[in-house]
Amino acid sequence: MSLQLHRNIFGNPANKGNVLTRDEAENLLNTWVLNPRLQLHMKQVAHLMQSWAAEKEQLDETGQWQWEMAGLLHDADWDQWPDQHCKKIIEELEQRNIDPDIIHAIASHGPNHFGVEPVTKMDKMLYAFDELSGLIHAYSLMRPGGYDGMELKGVKKRLKEKSFAANVSREEIDDACNRAGIALDELILFIISKQIVVQ
Ligand SMILES: [Fe+2]
Ligand SMILES: [Fe+2]
Repeated sequence: MSLQLHRNIFGNPANKGNVLTRDEAENLLNTWVLNPRLQLHMKQVAHLMQSWAAEKEQLDETGQWQWEMAGLLHDADWDQWPDQHCKKIIEELEQRNIDPDIIHAIASHGPNHFGVEPVTKMDKMLYAFDELSGLIHAYSLMRPGGYDGMELKGVKKRLKEKSFAANVSREEIDDACNRAGIALDELILFIISKQIVVQ
């Protein structure tokens, strides 16, 4: 099964600035994603994206929502149509005339799988948060206190343990940090501090 998208252009430049409302986006999430664990993953990534856009990129509310929306919907088709992952949500957002930047961020969240390179900062941060967010959440579930008292060194230990969350690609995490120009430690600490709110 190949998830390659075989294209690099998404959406229509004339749709720049078009977004779903929060209600529309949540509606799509609730209709398409039936698995609560996957929903939580998408909400966690959405919160990370919004927080990064606000705190590190100093974007206004409009910009923050674009980042958040990309995070919220990036895996929307994974639950019911895994063999069409990314393709289906991209086509849905194209039909709904959504901003091409948001669609591109979703299309490039797994360059090794979809064959689309992350270009913008939004693209790169979605790629960077995706796998690492999942690993850190898996770690929280095996700790008696969950996120309470979670430390950088504990996460780094789990990262080195290949059998832990074995489906999470360590190579992709390194690759994503390099592309985003962010130190792994900084990214881990940011995720811990934000993810504690959405769990
Ligand atoms: Fe995905
Ligand atoms: Fe994901």
